[in-house]
Amino acid sequence: NAGMNAQEIGKALHREPAEIVKKLFMLGIMVNQNVSLDKDTIELLAADYGIKAEEKEVVNVSDLDKFFEEEENNKEHQEDRAPVVTIMGHVDHGKTTLLDYLRNSHITAGEAGGITQAIGAYQLKKDGKTITFLDTPGHAAFTAMRARGADITDITILVVAADDGVMPQTIEAIDHAKAAKTPIIVAINKIDKPGANPNHVIEQLTGHGLVPEDWGGDTIFVEISAKMGTNVDELIDMILLESDVMELKANPDQNAAGSVIEARLDRGRGPVATLLVQQGTMHVGDPIVVGDTFGRVRTMMNEKGKNLDKATPSTPIEVTGLNDVPEAGDRFIVFDDEKTARAAGEERAKEAQMEERKKNNSVTLDNLFDSI
Ligand code: GTP
Ligand code: MG
Repeated sequence: NAGMNAQEIGKALHREPAEIVKKLFMLGIMVNQNVSLDKDTIELLAADYGIKAEEKEVVNVSDLDKFFEEEENNKEHQEDRAPVVTIMGHVDHGKTTLLDYLRNSHITAGEAGGITQAIGAYQLKKDGKTITFLDTPGHAAFTAMRARGADITDITILVVAADDGVMPQTIEAIDHAKAAKTPIIVAINKIDKPGANPNHVIEQLTGHGLVPEDWGGDTIFVEISAKMGTNVDELIDMILLESDVMELKANPDQNAAGSVIEARLDRGRGPVATLLVQQGTMHVGDPIVVGDTFGRVRTMMNEKGKNLDKATPSTPIEVTGLNDVPEAGDRFIVFDDEKTARAAGEERAKEAQMEERKKNNSVTLDNLFDSI
């Protein structure tokens, strides 16, 4: 029945809710056990268990189930993890300049001169604390990820140019952040410019529910110049402060799971994917299913091109070893053995193909017009 949640479905199928949650995860849907699911999702789930949704008659339970059981998130081993931060804002308001400044100003001595890979994410350390920045998400990528249920951002930095004020994409970014339920830290940028009017920006944002503490609200505002580096350190401190309050945690002692940030086909290395580890610890050699693709982690490196043999939660990594190129926002999960990973990957690829075929075969008025 539509509206049932994973807990209720678990009960109906005589299975642990955690297993249902894991199953959903494998179907690309990340929910906790209390979220009520729509009819399509329930049917998908039922189909996966070999059940017709109406009949609730168990026909054939796949062997994979055992597997998901072992992946269970052990809540007793939660450890602090770094916040994952996305920078958003209107065109030309200074997102790239800010990211570049952050990246260049916090390179430690040993890394200077090292080649920085464009892997779409990087980590910065201050006072022994780490922040993970997602480098890619323009709004389109953010939307694509959210559409796949991948809310991987913990904190949104909203960049607004002090000489330009709130613009359409500023509002879009606010809407995204609100939908994803991430706190927003406002960086009023370009305060070095003669035409800068930070107060005007604050007034405008107040109209969108972002009210600074001085004005009786609870949104953090920092006035910066990304170009000159003014107050960027303060901005970093505010991110760390906010993340402290959020008490972000994950369990490093389990098989790794997380999301694809971006992926591409490299001529020499084959499919290359930037992944964010969200749970567990990833190791070189791990059998893995990523969206509709699968393989074994052949190489794993950080954004500085340094080879890693393991990666804990909130670490962005670039991996090779997949049989195909996954999509941004796809989920990944590590399996205990390659055979099962392959079986799960192939099953998922087959499902995706069938979906695709169904889509292509069903002629609707819309795609009829599209094809003309
Ligand atoms: P898109 O990626 O196109 O959406 O733009 P963006 O938000 O990444 O802006 P970007 O960082 O490319 O900056 C746009 C222009 O503003 C560039 O010419 C920057 O040099 C300039 N700029 C960015 N930050 C500052 C600042 O703090 N002060 C001044 N004076 N100029 C800035
Ligand atoms: Mg840019």
